[in-house]
Amino acid sequence: MTTTFFNEIKQELQAGVDQKKHPFGFFTLGTVGLDRLARLRMVMLRAVGDDLQLVFYSDKRAKKVTHIKENNKVSLLFYHPEKFIQLKIEGIATIHSNFEGKHTLWNILAEDAKKNYSTSLAPGSTIKAPENIKYLDDDNHFCQIKVEPFKIEYLKIQSPSHIRVRFSKNNDDWVGEYLVP
Ligand SMILES: Cc1cc2nc3c(=O)[nH]c(=O)nc-3n(C[C@H](O)[C@H](O)[C@H](O)COP(=O)(O)O)c2cc1C
Repeated sequence: MTTTFFNEIKQELQAGVDQKKHPFGFFTLGTVGLDRLARLRMVMLRAVGDDLQLVFYSDKRAKKVTHIKENNKVSLLFYHPEKFIQLKIEGIATIHSNFEGKHTLWNILAEDAKKNYSTSLAPGSTIKAPENIKYLDDDNHFCQIKVEPFKIEYLKIQSPSHIRVRFSKNNDDWVGEYLVP
């Protein structure tokens, strides 16, 4: 039954949020902007919703946000090196910069994390030296990005044969199929 693997995916993703040092705490996010080039970067998994909506934080001036506004289809890549599990997730991203509870979320963010979303200049701006970074006093560009997955591919590398399962969202249901690895 593919359900076992689906449950494992849910558990491991949630562990990525709950457990310090869990390898799913960070993932590679792929976006494609207007120039049709894949852009990859690491982000931190902040929350997992009931139907596997995945949440991370960003500065709303970041390139990834521009890309998502141009093309909201994104890819996520997770890897668990002890369990040899790879998850490839495709989904639709939405940007939330004014949402209920933003103030509360902001207040519980670590001070170092807050700095990531409060630079005076936009992320990616050129500066003469790292000491030249300036921060806004009472303002920030914090946003939440939610990804609603429509496809999840699970791969477990093992002997004698690997396990590859594709889950596709059909209306509100997830349908799993085994694939040749
Ligand atoms: C371990 C690690 C975690 C990161 N987490 C985040 C994150 O949660 N959100 C974020 O916007 N950038 C995060 N970054 C920085 C991004 O990888 C990226 O360099 C930055 O956001 C600019 O990306 P962009 O220009 O494509 O938007 C992280 C980088 C590393 C190495």
